[in-house]
Amino acid sequence: MEIPDRVREGRDPTCCAETRNKLIEAAKSSHCKRYLEIGAGEGYTAAAIMEQTGAEIVAIEKDPVRATHARERLSQTGGKWSLLEGDAGEILPLLGGKFQLIFLDGPKAQYRRYLPDCKRLLERGGMLFSDDVLLYGWVRGEPPKKRRMLVEHIREYLRMLEDDPDFVTEYFEYGEGLAVSTKIK
Ligand SMILES: C[S@@+](CC[C@H](N)C(=O)[O-])C[C@H]1O[C@@H](n2cnc3c(N)ncnc32)[C@H](O)[C@@H]1O
Repeated sequence: MEIPDRVREGRDPTCCAETRNKLIEAAKSSHCKRYLEIGAGEGYTAAAIMEQTGAEIVAIEKDPVRATHARERLSQTGGKWSLLEGDAGEILPLLGGKFQLIFLDGPKAQYRRYLPDCKRLLERGGMLFSDDVLLYGWVRGEPPKKRRMLVEHIREYLRMLEDDPDFVTEYFEYGEGLAVSTKIK
């Protein structure tokens, strides 16, 4: 799928190519049947997963304009999908069933709040991808003053993942940092 310049340049963010390719590879190798994306943007990644794997897509996006674009993109791809427009914090507790793959790419300060629902919704053996968790090296280093609060939220999220014996987490230096957590129990 072609990613337009305005998206690549960050005016309408989508994840980096390495992260998207890793998601596709994980979806293929896990024979993913249901894929959840939190913060779908204009639907580039969700549409690529659907195109490449045929998985059913459930995508959450708060911004109405992006949600409209994501719907258009997903409807051109064919297959089974739903785009849930609204705040992920309100929508996630209402979701049921299990997913083999979850891509967490919404508001970084809220990852901690979303983790219990992501864990509940993830099948055993499934994978949770959390994007942008290293933020320009600030999470493992010294953040600028005005970013300290956000960095603390992300650090707390990573501690929650690492302290949870049901997850095994690996890090990849893709884009602003990707965590891939496998739910082993
Ligand atoms: C980095 S972009 C997503 C890119 C997309 N995952 C992709 O790879 O193409 C993050 C998205 O999260 C959305 N977002 C921010 N806060 C949200 C919230 N509370 N609930 C749902 N979506 C939210 C933003 O509107 C934005 O489109």
